[in-house]
Amino acid sequence: MKINVDGKKRDVNAVWYEEPVIKMIDQRILPETFKIIDINNTKELYEAIRNMTVRGAPSIGAAAAYGVAQAKALGMDIEEAGKFIKSSRPTANDLFYAVDFVLQHKNEAKKYAEMYVDSIVERSRLIGVNGNGLIGNNKKILTHCNAGALASVDYGTALSPIRAANDAGKKPFVWVDETRPRLQGARLTAWELVQEGIEHKVIADNAAGFLMQREQVDLVIVGADRITANGDFANKIGTYEKAVLAKENGVNFYVAAPLSTFDFSIEDGKGIPIEVRSEDEVKEIKGVKVSPRESSAYNPAFDVTPNRYVTGYITEYGVFKSSELNQLKDKGKDSIIEKVESI
Ligand code: MRU
Repeated sequence: MKINVDGKKRDVNAVWYEEPVIKMIDQRILPETFKIIDINNTKELYEAIRNMTVRGAPSIGAAAAYGVAQAKALGMDIEEAGKFIKSSRPTANDLFYAVDFVLQHKNEAKKYAEMYVDSIVERSRLIGVNGNGLIGNNKKILTHCNAGALASVDYGTALSPIRAANDAGKKPFVWVDETRPRLQGARLTAWELVQEGIEHKVIADNAAGFLMQREQVDLVIVGADRITANGDFANKIGTYEKAVLAKENGVNFYVAAPLSTFDFSIEDGKGIPIEVRSEDEVKEIKGVKVSPRESSAYNPAFDVTPNRYVTGYITEYGVFKSSELNQLKDKGKDSIIEKVESI
């Protein structure tokens, strides 16, 4: 992604590898501070995924793929390292997909980790190409959380079609849900849209229904952390209610994700493990307490949206209905690195 740092244009990915160091943008402190963090070993990587220095399903997968390569470079038992990295967060399928993929190619872990990440970037770009066709001129699109370049190394998943539409001169406008408790929308999606010069407004999480009722939303595009065989999917908490509101108001609702986010081993959304994070993320905003010390909080990080609310799944292979997702099932683990021309 092209970004402005201290008045200079820079081309930077969310995560990359300079053996034996994994480099990543610190997503906890944007938009105020742009900082690259060095990850020197598996323990630091585990912590960076857990504390969301790197976040977003495909970027977590990329960091994890590099993590296996790094463990090998440091002379560790890479099976054990892979297991440990996988235990950092439970919901995003990409984390497990990426570790398993690199472990299948143990002897050339670095080469395959790099091929994996290159492929994720290409797949994200293709999601943009395929989703662009769904966006007409001057459309108002609502998105939740951050499914941009920060979340998928480059381009984004939900933001990739919006970037493509903007590049095509269609002048998209984006309603950006703030996305409490970690504010990925207000902080990260808004930051990316500023960098791209795409028109947008940040809205409180509970404003979507009002805007849809007033016909201010033409379509919704969100990302996903895990999509099951029947098309039910987990995404950032609050996604489900946006999907129900979209159906109630006759607004098309799309999910954008690459193959690495699909988990065909789970039949439906009931089987997706949902991460519950610290109470403090709800009780505090940027370290400032907003609830009484005596109150406790509950903080599920994701919810599950049933397939019946989804108009289509925007993937690198095209746009599918839930009944058509079995066409993606046959794509084997190695197909993640197949040449883009053959997709
Ligand atoms: O907890 P996060 O920030 O890692 O969760 C990410 C999301 O849920 C995003 O909404 C996204 O759609 C999935 S990553 C493209």
